[in-house]
Amino acid sequence: MALLAQGRDPWSLLGLLSQLFLALLLTTGGGGQEPLPRITYGAGDGRRALSLFHQKGLQDFDTLLLSGDGGTLYVGAREAILALDIQDPGMPKLRNMIPWPASDQKKTECAFKKKSNETQCFNFIRVLVSFNATHLYSCGTFAFSPACTFIELRDSNLLPISEDKVVEGKGQSPFDPAHKHTAVLADGMLYSGTMNNFLGSEPILIRTLGPQPVLKTDNFLRWLQPDASFVAAIPSTQFVYFFFEETASEFEFFEKLHTSRVARVCKNDVGGDKLLQKKWTTFLKAQLLCTQPGQLPFNVIRHAVLLPAAASAESRVYATFSSQWQIGGTRSSAVCAFSLKDIKRVFEGKYKELNKETSRWTTYGVPEISPRPGSCSVGPSSDKALTFMKDHFLMDEQVVGTPLLVKSGVEYTRLAVETAQGVDGHGHLVLYLGTTTGALHKAVVSADSSAHLVEEIQLFPNPEPVRNLLLAPEQGAVFAGFSGGIWRVPRANCSIYESCVDCVLAQDPHCAWDPESGTCRLLPTPIPKSWRQDTEQGNPGWACATGPVGRSHQPQSRPQIIKEVLAVPNSILELPCPHLSALASYRWSHGTAKIPEASSAVYNGSLVLLLQGAVGGLYQCWATEKGFSYPVVSYWVHSQDQPLALDPELAGIPRERVEAPLTRVGGGAALAAQRSYWPHFLTVTVLLALVLSGALLLLLASPLGALRARGKVQGCRTLPPGEKAPLSRDQHLQPPKERRTSASDVDADSSRLGTEVA
Ligand SMILES: *[C@@H]1O[C@H](CO)[C@@H](O)[C@H](O)[C@H]1NC(C)=O
Ligand SMILES: *[C@@H]1O[C@H](CO)[C@@H](O)[C@H](O)[C@H]1NC(C)=O
Ligand SMILES: *[C@@H]1O[C@H](CO)[C@@H](O)[C@H](O)[C@H]1NC(C)=O
Ligand SMILES: *[C@@H]1O[C@H](CO)[C@@H](O)[C@H](O)[C@H]1NC(C)=O
Repeated sequence: MALLAQGRDPWSLLGLLSQLFLALLLTTGGGGQEPLPRITYGAGDGRRALSLFHQKGLQDFDTLLLSGDGGTLYVGAREAILALDIQDPGMPKLRNMIPWPASDQKKTECAFKKKSNETQCFNFIRVLVSFNATHLYSCGTFAFSPACTFIELRDSNLLPISEDKVVEGKGQSPFDPAHKHTAVLADGMLYSGTMNNFLGSEPILIRTLGPQPVLKTDNFLRWLQPDASFVAAIPSTQFVYFFFEETASEFEFFEKLHTSRVARVCKNDVGGDKLLQKKWTTFLKAQLLCTQPGQLPFNVIRHAVLLPAAASAESRVYATFSSQWQIGGTRSSAVCAFSLKDIKRVFEGKYKELNKETSRWTTYGVPEISPRPGSCSVGPSSDKALTFMKDHFLMDEQVVGTPLLVKSGVEYTRLAVETAQGVDGHGHLVLYLGTTTGALHKAVVSADSSAHLVEEIQLFPNPEPVRNLLLAPEQGAVFAGFSGGIWRVPRANCSIYESCVDCVLAQDPHCAWDPESGTCRLLPTPIPKSWRQDTEQGNPGWACATGPVGRSHQPQSRPQIIKEVLAVPNSILELPCPHLSALASYRWSHGTAKIPEASSAVYNGSLVLLLQGAVGGLYQCWATEKGFSYPVVSYWVHSQDQPLALDPELAGIPRERVEAPLTRVGGGAALAAQRSYWPHFLTVTVLLALVLSGALLLLLASPLGALRARGKVQGCRTLPPGEKAPLSRDQHLQPPKERRTSASDVDADSSRLGTEVA
């Protein structure tokens, strides 16, 4: 906050700089605890089955609109508008599609103006709103010549667009598909914010359609900086709020300083009479601040949505931000919450005023004009009030947001929010966040305003931005538009949590443990009171306890199932342990003790065990999360020649016979399958040792060679194998080559090792 303190004199500028330095130091020094996704799903992971709608020849699924009944998704793509039936789970079905290409004439003109006929001179749909019961209204870039039209609906089907119904759409859609824009329909009028010219240097905030006069921002008065970039528009009863980013003119800074803004206009504004004709008479803007102590300010707003007030709470706007600065080559993101009440209060406070002679911004108190200029008073405003409004459009105070989530290394492009009713009867705030690399984060905000990430789902195999997100509450899914189609992402897959403990630790308000069926399930309405959940604390000790609550119950210390491994003596076993949660730490136990070090090793979470003598018995992999430990998997291991009787304490627990051959070392499961691997392993090790000592001797024979070899080893670290050639012109690089050949004769796996050494 202090970083953006107003400053014009050198001292405050110096202060600003040192603040920035301090912020830099703090940020690089202490990372703080930012949330990690508890579970990460790669693209195509079967545990989070998503469905994709795409169609050959269609691309850029940028604009999404949900029908009033929630059963149809209208999509604005490149040169086409689609109606998708989303009522059934699974892939959205194409209801119908209407083409809306830019005219050939406009395309020719566009190409003539040096825009690309391959990527830019098309009609990219930018506005798609529900105008009335029978019509949608849509605008597109129309090959750098914005155009709009009404689209008639019949039974949720789109009727074709007739060319004579297409009108000019300047101010409603940008010219350039790369420019930001926003539009919202309120009381039958379209409020849009975008670039109003071909060059993209003249931003505009305009009201069109409907009975009221068309009103614009005044370009000459510089209410908006030339680079203003709109990301959201949110109507309330009296006002329409616009969220955007622009260069900050009120701060002097050694580089171009971006700042995020909220602007508002009154819905009942009719424009001025003599002054401010056809212009807003109620335009005001204020700075939005999203910072966390010790972090650089997140000064670039990316998207904002309103969550209307539930019964008791106040309406809040949730917005994602990134920073114009990068730390260590990565950007970070934040999500902040702003209450409408705070925004309103700032707009009722003092103004900033530009002194034209000194070019300094100063604070200006509240004017003695009644009704207050910029308030939505009915009746014509006085000339005095309008004159005041011309120059007093920036509020003095900032709207300070509450940071809910700060995450480095990701840039959130879009967000969607909802509240999910939990078993505890409270509403829990859920955020869905799309990233620039094609991931979706599901975050849940606790009562103390800190968020945890329930999961991260990688939507596309290749990183590319999520262009749009839309929550369809009736369908229990989020729809994500990107260049190649639309993903349907169900809110949750509770079945991946196999135990009550895991179900509760997930802290997903959509999932709860049903003790009757013994499964983690999507919470239905009405909410069954017997289901177990603890969204706030995630404490399974309490939520999964079977006895009286409050005692130190160990609800899961007894395994649910025991996997029985009957193995060949002297064989090497691999006992896998699924690491479901990234927030847990995992360890192994043997009986009541820690694992016996001598005859086993943990490799990538799995326990690798040499079955010899008395190492049989109970092996358990334990997860510890939030101070709570529970067995993830339990094995009863014994050998085929002397089966062990099961521990009486474990009687009554269902058992399942599994095979656990070693599959990793040697790379071949076939080799290892239920056959003693030990002699083979020894042979390989001995041969490898011989080969390595031979190589070492050769190297030591020539001190120069040793030096060169060291250089080469370093070279190997940075160069791909093909580029080693220039380094190996000396003849004593021959020996390593020989070594490699000999090593590969021994075993495929040790050859890999051999190359690394050489
Ligand atoms: C949910 O997870 C279960 C268990 O991993 C899996 O079998 C199922 O296919 C998943 N369902 C969806 C819709 O992702
Ligand atoms: C774009 O213009 C070039 C040259 O005028 C032409 O060769 C090419 O076919 C055009 N591409 C498309 C997609 O129209
Ligand atoms: C909806 O708006 C269109 C376009 O202005 C108009 O033609 C149509 O009659 C309207 N329909 C209803 C039901 O008001
Ligand atoms: C470690 O285990 C995970 C999951 O079981 C697997 O995806 C990964 O490939 C393993 N890594 C190595 C180096 O074996």
